[in-house]
Amino acid sequence: MVYIAILGFGTVGSGVYEVITKNKDVIARKAGVDIAIKYVLDSKEFPNHAVSEVLTHDVNDILEDESIQVVVEVMGGVEVPYQFVKAALERGKHVATSNKALVAAHGPELLRIAKEKNVNFLFEASVGGGIPILRSMNRCLTADVILEVMGILNGTTNYILTEMTEKGLAFEDVLKQAQELGYAEKDPTADIEGYDACRKIAILSSLAFGKTADFEEIPTEGITKITKTDICYAKRCNSVIKLVGISKKTSEGISASVEPMLLPKEHPLANVNGAFNAILVKGNMVGDLMFYGSGAGSLPTASAVVSDVVAAVRHHHIHVDVDWTAEKMEVLPKDHVAVKALVRIVGGEEQQKKALLAFKGGSIVTIEEAKDEFAVITAVETEKSLADKIELLSCEMKVRNRIRMEVAQL
Ligand code: HSE
Repeated sequence: MVYIAILGFGTVGSGVYEVITKNKDVIARKAGVDIAIKYVLDSKEFPNHAVSEVLTHDVNDILEDESIQVVVEVMGGVEVPYQFVKAALERGKHVATSNKALVAAHGPELLRIAKEKNVNFLFEASVGGGIPILRSMNRCLTADVILEVMGILNGTTNYILTEMTEKGLAFEDVLKQAQELGYAEKDPTADIEGYDACRKIAILSSLAFGKTADFEEIPTEGITKITKTDICYAKRCNSVIKLVGISKKTSEGISASVEPMLLPKEHPLANVNGAFNAILVKGNMVGDLMFYGSGAGSLPTASAVVSDVVAAVRHHHIHVDVDWTAEKMEVLPKDHVAVKALVRIVGGEEQQKKALLAFKGGSIVTIEEAKDEFAVITAVETEKSLADKIELLSCEMKVRNRIRMEVAQL
């Protein structure tokens, strides 16, 4: 029998309890031994739930119990889980977490401690919920140089953009509806401003390129400025708007960003709808791989956490290395990144002529739904050059929005 402890009995913690209880036999077969939950740490009481039999309010019960082999951290937040996870690793316990904020902020340090103590720090559920993306990158894609990772990494924003596209609704209305249905958090800032996706692309970049990507250096824009009119332009261009996290090797260095993007309908990520996530990985030998599934939710996320528990049990006394060093990754300054965009400008023929002079190689798009404006689809140029042109044009005309467009490998 292997004993584990769960820190936190919220959405994911209760999911982990359910997965381990319901799938006890199959998990035992795959781990080679029975796995039992000895403690669940939470500040609340759960009098009508079987968990009350193993509930504790004191983390030291877990840290000081030598029979606990694996600690599952699903509390949320950063500082308290950081202290608990560090203490568990230092006492020679494996840790599995779903906490992307913790991994993005302290990943290399926790991996180093795990290595020193000959245990494992595992975080499959921190990116893409139930999608087995991190293990695939660490364990399967070991023969390739990874060239690019690109994904729809946030279910809430993908749900909102899908509803806006399919039902022609405004951002604020869908957000309100999503909150009422419990799909979006009461405070949705981390999702709609792109912060959640930013931490996830930071983790993916670090694993793809082996150095630490600082999430604070990744240019991040959410979906709050996307309007019904933007969606109409997307349809006119046979495209969809998605919040995309992207990190790629370019001739200039590694670029990384999170922002709304126009993807042509035939793009593999364009048909990822609702709350689903998907991650596209490009290897120099294998080519394109696509990982798709539930990026959030109690049971899908718990499934990934428990797969880490099984991996830890299988590798007891063996530290499995992760190619993620503490060396800082230099993220290419935004100005140097090559982009193409749809730029919406107020005006008619005269303004169109001027806009085409500014954006050489560009083309004009108009839509029935907004007759007082047009859009230019620019040629590929650096972000700096594009921003300078928009600034210059803004002296004469009103620029309503600009949305990046997908550019095939440069
Ligand atoms: N709020 C996140 C999402 C949950 O909407 O995708 C998983 O990190």
